[in-house]
Amino acid sequence: MSQKIFIKTFGCQMNEYDSNRIYDTVKKIGYIKTDKYEEANCYLLNTCHIRNKAKEKVYHEIGRVKKLFKSKKKPLVIIAGCVAQAENQEMIRREPYIDLVIGPQSYHKINNTILNYIDKQNKFEETEFDAISKFDYLSKIKNELGKVSSFLTIQEGCDKFCHFCVVPFTRGPEYSRPFSQIIDEAKSLVDSGAKELILLGQNVNAYNNKGTRLSNLILEIEKISGIKRIRYSTSHPKDMTEDLIEVYKYSKKLMPLIHLPVQSGSNKILKLMNRKHSIDRYLEIFYNLKEINSNIEFSSDFIIGYPGEENQDFEDTLNLIKRVKFINSYSFIFSPRPGTVAAGLELIDKKISNKRLEKIQNQLFENQIIKNKSLENKILNVLVENLTDDKTQVFGRSEYMTPVIFDGKKNDIGKIIPVKIRRSNRSTLFGEIIDNSNQKVA
Ligand code: SAM
Ligand code: SF4
Ligand code: F3S
Repeated sequence: MSQKIFIKTFGCQMNEYDSNRIYDTVKKIGYIKTDKYEEANCYLLNTCHIRNKAKEKVYHEIGRVKKLFKSKKKPLVIIAGCVAQAENQEMIRREPYIDLVIGPQSYHKINNTILNYIDKQNKFEETEFDAISKFDYLSKIKNELGKVSSFLTIQEGCDKFCHFCVVPFTRGPEYSRPFSQIIDEAKSLVDSGAKELILLGQNVNAYNNKGTRLSNLILEIEKISGIKRIRYSTSHPKDMTEDLIEVYKYSKKLMPLIHLPVQSGSNKILKLMNRKHSIDRYLEIFYNLKEINSNIEFSSDFIIGYPGEENQDFEDTLNLIKRVKFINSYSFIFSPRPGTVAAGLELIDKKISNKRLEKIQNQLFENQIIKNKSLENKILNVLVENLTDDKTQVFGRSEYMTPVIFDGKKNDIGKIIPVKIRRSNRSTLFGEIIDNSNQKVA
């Protein structure tokens, strides 16, 4: 039986990884992915609960699907991801159009859940925390993503309980996958065409499997021939241990961009957030890494308007941004999440938060524009990922993840090409291939 599945993914890179693995799994019971939702007989939404807006998108999307299928046979509607975990059977009560609800640590059960539904038409939710069974099962199914830059989840869950965050409730406790399982999956991704691996975890640098740390993994993965670049995301400053900092001295394939969310530049706010790191420690990590390699750059996440944030706290954040010169950062206004400590705190005036967000974003954008401008007329190594939509050029990324577009060819895909940057805007660099003999790469 050939069934068509349409998968829509919201949220973080870990959800993207999961969506690919869900597809690897449902293929076993005859599903084929489609990009045309109108021909789908299964509609799967992989959801995010991080901010209220992200959650509400899910219900809007279901409303849209309902309309689209009004005069057609209803597809099987499955809600996966963090909203599924947080709201479980409540979702089916609120929106009876939903058939199955499956949490992020139960994907290994998805085929049985679907087959059972087809057989008995029983609406069902599956939201147990069982990371070991999930990864044991997934490790037996080939990861067939085959993208030049591929995600590989090595760690899941969080024990830190920042007062604003739902992740410990939606992804469960920290779990690190066995070392050999990860190496096997890395090799299999390389066999299917990956040149860059992005190691993922909600707290990726908390990775610890029987004493094996992220630094050990990086050095082992680097030995796989075919791997050209290694990245990891998202890190917590508390887990930025000496061995991980030191690995930047030895690794040849680890990229010089570190996504290390600080959230706020004020120690007072970090304490209120239960972040477990100070600005002094953050800056110590920053200077230690800069000493090892002055080309290392940082990106971060910021929460603006956290309850208790006064003007001085906000100015501290602005000053930190100017000092560290973060590139490619994310910033959002605090969104109270049910079940978290901060949910009950008094919100600050919306107008003030909006103004602060605008100011922060302007500063972050300015950093990006200056950085990108400084790269004009320089030669950068670009890992080519695909053709542009109109197929006339190629799209790749610099070592700092910045998109680069240039006149390459299809057979450049998967190669690292030296490109001279001719112009830039805030988010993208535009360049041309150069004759790489006698040219120095920046
Ligand atoms: N584990 C990572 C860390 O500790 O930095 C962050 C992972 S979280 C999935 C991604 C980002 O979402 C956070 O860094 C934070 O900036 C943002 N975030 C989480 N909860 C939020 C909330 N309630 N309101 C606004 N932003 C939030
Ligand atoms: Fe959320 Fe904090 Fe855990 Fe990051 S460390 S996932 S922000 S609770
Ligand atoms: Fe969202 Fe869950 Fe990721 S809440 S950010 S999809 S871990």
